[in-house]
Amino acid sequence: MRIDIITVLPELLRSPFEHSILKRAQDKGLVEVHLHDLREYGFGKHKQVDDYQFGGGAGMVMMAEPIFACVEELQAERKYDEIIYMTPDGQTFNQRHANSLSLVENIIILAGHYKGVDQRVRDHLITLELSIGDFVLSGGELAAAVVSDAVIRLLPGVLNDETSALTDSFQDNLLAPPVYTRPAKFRGWEVPEVLRSGDFKKIEDWRHDQAVQRTKDRRPDLLDDKK
Ligand code: ADE
Repeated sequence: MRIDIITVLPELLRSPFEHSILKRAQDKGLVEVHLHDLREYGFGKHKQVDDYQFGGGAGMVMMAEPIFACVEELQAERKYDEIIYMTPDGQTFNQRHANSLSLVENIIILAGHYKGVDQRVRDHLITLELSIGDFVLSGGELAAAVVSDAVIRLLPGVLNDETSALTDSFQDNLLAPPVYTRPAKFRGWEVPEVLRSGDFKKIEDWRHDQAVQRTKDRRPDLLDDKK
């Protein structure tokens, strides 16, 4: 898979991809992540990428032309399955989006800034608009990193058995069950007996029951939202 991220702040996005699982996924050749500085497509001496909004009002708007130029340069090299714009008014990103994006070959993610992008970019270039929650970030970069992380860890070969995505919260619309490690007794609090029983069938059933109970208590909405 290949992910191209377009941003005015590539530096802000470098670090998340240089550590741990995301770094390993790239080192293993399972994903390529390319950061593109939108300013390189900006106008004039100052490499301008934003301008005042028509109709007046505070805040600058990202211009269509540099964004189209950058995306079209990428599209000249390969076909993209989705061109995603990170924005608080997009669809709320969830595990289903992550699962389906993990199956495609190439995606572009555009991180917005200022008052957002010229509507013509959204109307004529973007194929999917995603939000990572009902709050406003100062730019789409961190949101782009969140989406990339959730997608990359699902690519075959990225996780080993120990970190398998199959037992993650949300993978089957259930939250993950509680987990414990040593010691078996800490400050008088004991690890549930069943987990120390060695009876794998019983352990599996207990984990499933706990996952269902936790989901009922914390996120009952997930139970009526079956895939
Ligand atoms: N840009 C600013 N806020 C955002 C959010 N909540 N999700 C995605 N992109 C954003």
